[in-house]
Amino acid sequence: MARDPGRVLIFDTTLRDGEQSPGASLNLEEKLAIAQQLARLGVDIIEAGFPFASPGDFNAVQRIADSVGTPDGPTICGLARAAAGDIKACADAVAPAARKRIHTFIATSDIHLEHKLRKSRAEVLAITAEMVEYARSLVDDVEFSCEDAGRSDPAFMYEVIEAAIRAGATTINIPDTVGYATPAEFGELIAGINAHVPNIDQAVISVHGHNDLGLAVANFLEAVKNGARQLECTINGIGERAGNASLEELVMALHVRRSYFNPFLGRAVESTEPLTAVRTEEITKTSRLVSNLTGMAVQPNKAIVGANAFAHESGIHQDGVLKHRLTYEIIDARTVGLADNRISLGKLSGRSAFRARLEELGYALSREDLDDAFARFKELADRKREITDRDLEAIVSEQVQQQGDGSYTLRRVQVSCGTGLQPTATVTLTDADGAELTEAAIGTGPVDAVCQALNRLAQVPNELVEFSVKSVTEGIDAMGEVTIRLRQNGVLYSGHAADTDIVVAAAQAFVNALNRLIAGNRSVPLHPQKAPLPVLGDLPLPERPRV
Ligand code: KIV
Ligand code: ZN
Repeated sequence: MARDPGRVLIFDTTLRDGEQSPGASLNLEEKLAIAQQLARLGVDIIEAGFPFASPGDFNAVQRIADSVGTPDGPTICGLARAAAGDIKACADAVAPAARKRIHTFIATSDIHLEHKLRKSRAEVLAITAEMVEYARSLVDDVEFSCEDAGRSDPAFMYEVIEAAIRAGATTINIPDTVGYATPAEFGELIAGINAHVPNIDQAVISVHGHNDLGLAVANFLEAVKNGARQLECTINGIGERAGNASLEELVMALHVRRSYFNPFLGRAVESTEPLTAVRTEEITKTSRLVSNLTGMAVQPNKAIVGANAFAHESGIHQDGVLKHRLTYEIIDARTVGLADNRISLGKLSGRSAFRARLEELGYALSREDLDDAFARFKELADRKREITDRDLEAIVSEQVQQQGDGSYTLRRVQVSCGTGLQPTATVTLTDADGAELTEAAIGTGPVDAVCQALNRLAQVPNELVEFSVKSVTEGIDAMGEVTIRLRQNGVLYSGHAADTDIVVAAAQAFVNALNRLIAGNRSVPLHPQKAPLPVLGDLPLPERPRV
């Protein structure tokens, strides 16, 4: 049987696989904010990125390792293809963390060997041993993945896994890369590894899976029953194509159905010891932060974090819930931190009350950022009677988004529209050198006019593919959150902003998306799974100790 850490480890890959979702790219400040929140959530391992992808990606992993990888914080992991250059970059990037991991991978399915790697099974076996050994010479904690494990010949995969463990891998990850497996098959795959890999007792078995058939979470739960003890997942289930297994669904399934899963971990049915180390009350906040910063909206009926997940709206249900909560509820909303959207501050609240509430919400801002956020809060308090925690979160996440990519800053926006009028907008931006630029345009509506005026100023070709507005809280004076997605050369860039005036929110969201597009044009990061694997020996291997 595989090595057992005594509970289910949660490996969060929102910042790596999640960021591979079209349009979800994040700037440094956003990645740091998410990593800090993931640490508060209590995940065991954060996969912070693919350091070899670009200098920006390297820097982000290094900063996260430095600031979030504290001795009592999570392990910080970086992804590396089974190539020496990737592995060295990864080791350097995670170096500042107290607990660091290199996650290296190579495909093991015949379809990937033939059409992607163009390598024989013998070559893949040799690369695995060589590269895991190299990674292990740089860090003590090495994870190895058999990419496309779900479609690999199990007998060949057992050989590769055995070689990886012999070379020093401490975690073996089994990815269903294309989301093809069914729960029973995936469970059998894990059972087969436990039964046929002679040295599997030296490694933790991990699973990773995509949601192409909507089965990722079910597959993982079956894997846990068969000995998997690490789950690779993302907040809100974001990730390539249909996404990854969703962290909140896995954690809550293991929490709510603890007595069902307990015996599979060798515990008494009635044991109340948590199966994961996640602080479930942080789930809702983490979900909102990731959704706001990535621009990936959460569908209303999404389990655990969807807007309707805890809304008992139909009359019949309300009556049932009022008589006895358990008639229609299996989770108390407070367990996921959804208890109260409490009114926290008002017009007369001072800077220290504002800072204290932000700190309680988990946001520790620098002096400068706090000044900016406080100015926005005061502006909002002039227009909105009651400021809730959700409003504060919207202010802070928008501020994080505006840092980092700053080609343009929105200064002023003015529109005239109404019955019998041609919607017209005038916008003023400052560019990176501080020069003020103003343009006006006519559109089919006020938002269209604003976008046209902004496009005239920025002069970067793009296509608007999504525009959505939703209110942060209830009430006529609620802030509206706008998400905009722009496409250029098939690549998506998203922007998000909130304001009580939705035209202003739309203008700011458009500027945020434009800034990302411009930053994206400067450097196109390498895709870890789609870029060709460098030839073995791409970097001279330094003298290193044998493991
Ligand atoms: O889906 C996949 O196979 C991956 C690997 C790199 C682990 O993301
Ligand atoms: Zn993946």
